[in-house]
Amino acid sequence: MGHSDSVEDGIAIEPVADRVSREGREPMQNVIGELEERRARARLGGGERRIENQHAKGKLTARERLDLLLDDGTFEEWDMFVEHRCSEFGMEDRKVPGDGVVTGWGAVNGRPVFVFSQDFTVFGGSLSDSHARKICKIMDRAMQVGAPVIGINDSGGARIQEGVDSLAGYAEVFLRNVLASGVVPQISVVMGPCAGGAVYSPAMTDFIFMVKDTSYMFVTGPDVVKTVTHEAVSHEELGGAVTHTSRSGVADLAFEHDVEALAEVRRFIGLLPASNRENPPFLETEDPADRPEASLDNLIPSNPNKPYDMKELIGKVVDEGDFFELQPSYAGNIVIGFGRMEGRTAGFVANQPMVLAGCLDIDASKKAARFVRFCDCFNIPIVTFVDVPGFLPGTAQEHGGIIKHGAKLLYAYAEATVPKVTCITRKAYGGAYDVMASKHLRGDVNYAWPSAEIAVMGSKGAVEIIFRADIGDAEKIEARTQEYRERFANPFVAAQRGFIDDVIMPRNTRRRICGALRMLRGKVLENPWKKHDNIPL
Ligand code: HXC
Repeated sequence: MGHSDSVEDGIAIEPVADRVSREGREPMQNVIGELEERRARARLGGGERRIENQHAKGKLTARERLDLLLDDGTFEEWDMFVEHRCSEFGMEDRKVPGDGVVTGWGAVNGRPVFVFSQDFTVFGGSLSDSHARKICKIMDRAMQVGAPVIGINDSGGARIQEGVDSLAGYAEVFLRNVLASGVVPQISVVMGPCAGGAVYSPAMTDFIFMVKDTSYMFVTGPDVVKTVTHEAVSHEELGGAVTHTSRSGVADLAFEHDVEALAEVRRFIGLLPASNRENPPFLETEDPADRPEASLDNLIPSNPNKPYDMKELIGKVVDEGDFFELQPSYAGNIVIGFGRMEGRTAGFVANQPMVLAGCLDIDASKKAARFVRFCDCFNIPIVTFVDVPGFLPGTAQEHGGIIKHGAKLLYAYAEATVPKVTCITRKAYGGAYDVMASKHLRGDVNYAWPSAEIAVMGSKGAVEIIFRADIGDAEKIEARTQEYRERFANPFVAAQRGFIDDVIMPRNTRRRICGALRMLRGKVLENPWKKHDNIPL
C-alpha cells in the first residue's frame, strides 16, 4: 500500500504547504481547514467499517465511551496527532493519528479526571511505543496534579509489528501504575479484550469494572490453555466478567453493557477523593445524622445460629440508603463498599452471616484487606460491622494458606491510620475478634450492640474443651454451657475493660457512628518511619 488518504487502511497526511498552494485559500483559513480535516480523520479512528464492526459486537467506540464518561463538553484531548514510528511490515504506510488510544482529561460531575480509552478500530487497540507514551503522559500529569486516572481497555495487546518496543511501552505503563498506586485512584474499565501481560496494568489499578460478554481478561487464552492442559474453555468462561467477579475476584463489578458500566463509573468516582492529598468529597444530604432506625432493634434473631442480612444494617445506616457495594458476587461472607455518612464517604467492611455464617476465609480476608488498604491510602474512614464466628476450618483453607491470607486483613487494619469505627452486632469470636478492627488494632471508637458476644469461641465448643471430663454427662454440660454463655455471651466483659467504648442501642447506630466520624475528622496518627512495610503477600 502506497501513500493514501484512505482512512480505512491507515493514512499518511499530505504536508500543509501542498494543500495551501493547491487550494489557493487564504493562509489562515487554510490552516484552520487543515486542522479541522486532521481532527476529523483522527476522530474517525480505523474508519467506518471498523466502527460498524465495533457496534455490531455491542461495543461503543473509544470516543463514544468518553462522551458518556465525562461531563458534556469537558473533554480536552491530548496527542490526537501522535502516530507510531514503526517501519516494520509495511507499517510506515499505515498510520492513524492518535495511534489507537484517545487520551486527555475532562470532568466527572465537575471534578477533573485523566482518561485513556483504547480504540479497537485502530490496529485492534494494540499498544505501540507511541500509544504507551500517550498513556504515560496523562498518568504523569494525573500524579502531579492529583486527579484520578480512568483507563478504558479494549486492546489486542502488544502491537505485534513493534516487538520489544511495545513490551517496553507496557512496562512504562506498569511502572506508572505502581508509582501512582496510593497517590491517585486508578480505575480500569475493561470493555474488550485484555490478554497476556496486558492484564497486569488493570491488575495493579485499584478497581476493575468489566462488561459481560464483550470483555475478557486472561494471561493465556483458550487456545494456549487447550494446547497445554487440554481443557476446552470459552473466552467468557476463562476470563469473562462473570468469572472475574464471582470466581477469581480479579474484577470488582460486572455490567450488562458499556452504557451501564460508564454510568456506574461516574457514580463511583463521586465517592472517591481525587488524590491522597485530599479528603473524600462532600455531598449535601437531607438524611438527618440522628435518624433513629427502630427496626434495627429486631435485626438480630433470638437463635444465635440464625443468619440475618448484614446489608440491611448497612442500608439503614448510610445516607439515604445509598451503598455502593464492591465485589458483591465474590467472597459473600464479607461485604465491602462505600457509602456516605453526613455527606462524607466512608468505607464499610462487614461480616455477612448469610454466607458461611460470616466466617473469615482466604477470599474474604484478601478482599477486605485490599479494600481497607485502599481506604487508608485515600483518607477514607473505615466503618466495620462485626458478626464473625471465627476463621473457616478445613484442609482447603489451611493448605491454601489461610494463615498468610488471614494475616493480610489483620495487617491492613493494624497499619491503617484513618479513623476506624467498629460496631459488633453479634459474634466476635477468637482471633477474628482481634482482626476485625478491634480496639487492640487501634480501633478509634468501638461499639457493641447488647446482643454482642465477645469470647474466645462459642459456648458449646468452649465447654467441650474446658470441661472435657464431663462430656458424658449431658446435664452437667448443659449447666456449664449456660454458665459460659451468661459469663461471656455479652458485650459487658469487654466493655468493663474498655475494649468496647459503649454498648449502644441498635436503633441509634447511625447517630452514634456519624458522631464518632465527626469527632474523628481531625485525627492525626502516623506509623513509624519505614521505607515500606512488608505485608504478608
Ligand atoms: C497488531 C493487532 C493486534 C496486535 C489485533 N490486531 N491484535 N495488530 N498487534 N496485537 C489488529 C488485527 O490485525 C486487525 O487489523 C484488527 O486489529 C482487529 O483484529 P481482529 O483479529 O480482526 O479482531 P477480532 O476477531 O475481534 O479478534 C480480536 C483479538 C485478535 C482476539 C484481540 O485480534 C487477537 O488474538 N489478536 C492478537 C492478540 C495477541 O496475541 N496479542 C499479543 C498478546 S501478548 P485489521 O487491519 O484487519 O483491522 C501481549 C504481551 C503484553 O500483549 C506484554 C506486556 C508485558
